[in-house]
Amino acid sequence: METGKRLIGKVAIVSGGASGIGAETVRVFAAHGASVVACDVNEALGQSVVDGICQDGGEAMFRTLDVSSEQQWAALVAEVEESHGRLDVLTNIAGISGRDPSQNIQPTLTAGGVLEDQSLEKWNQVMEVNATGTYLGTKAVIAPMRRSGGGSIINISSICGLVGSFGNPAYHASKGAVRLFSKAVAIQYAADGIRANSIHPGFVDTPMTEPGHANPEVAKMRLEATPLGRFGTPRDVAMGCLYLASDEASWVTGSELVIDGGMTAN
Ligand SMILES: NC(=O)c1ccc[n+]([C@@H]2O[C@H](COP(=O)([O-])OP(=O)(O)OC[C@H]3O[C@@H](n4cnc5c(N)ncnc54)[C@H](O)[C@@H]3O)[C@@H](O)[C@H]2O)c1
Repeated sequence: METGKRLIGKVAIVSGGASGIGAETVRVFAAHGASVVACDVNEALGQSVVDGICQDGGEAMFRTLDVSSEQQWAALVAEVEESHGRLDVLTNIAGISGRDPSQNIQPTLTAGGVLEDQSLEKWNQVMEVNATGTYLGTKAVIAPMRRSGGGSIINISSICGLVGSFGNPAYHASKGAVRLFSKAVAIQYAADGIRANSIHPGFVDTPMTEPGHANPEVAKMRLEATPLGRFGTPRDVAMGCLYLASDEASWVTGSELVIDGGMTAN
């Protein structure tokens, strides 16, 4: 095994791979020797991430995928298994905040309105991508991972899946669902050598948080709530994904990896 590279020989699917945490995870996985399939609804951005990796000698391809479509998951996973012969890692990163774009100023730590201001339509939209998308992706990879002799499923939850806040109950509910769904999968498929864990990022600088962090009042509030005194970077979270994807985590399943600058320790 080449020294330093931790995913050599592994085939990984990364949803949400076009932007932010997902794009960085695709880059880190490829840099560590994985053959990566990045998928996202944003085709132009996703393709540019993959092009950059291939130019640097990495192995990656992009496929357009809406994580809320069971048919699209089935087609993607079948294609990957056929072209790569195996599937070792699934990282469910695609997600939406459900934040109303017209809400330029958010008065609290969390983007989005309180319960009474959140419509059923918004609730369903957030649950469909964050929770149902994770369920569908996970369900689609179980059989191929079993055929590969095991695998690692990494689901991006949030600190919002651990604690509540003053806004966006749908986002909290969706991320809480991801947390316990991961534990259920861990128990149900441990005998198949399939591990499932959740990751709980705090406030990370990405396009998702840009509108909030561009507001000095919100940025100040969030930084003051973060003991390590800075926002996370996509790489901070991608390195957690790398650990859980690697064989170094072969005894780790059903766990919650909190990467939040100490925020929820308080
Ligand atoms: N940024 C943070 O502070 C933070 C904190 C905790 C958790 N998270 C979670 O991390 C994940 C990545 O977020 P990010 O901050 O990198 O945001 P981002 O907006 O940069 O990336 C999210 C990606 O998901 C894709 N996506 C959205 N809906 C999709 C769908 N239906 N099918 C396929 N792809 C879809 C988007 O196109 C985008 O590329 C999300 O699940 C988010 O909830 C982010």
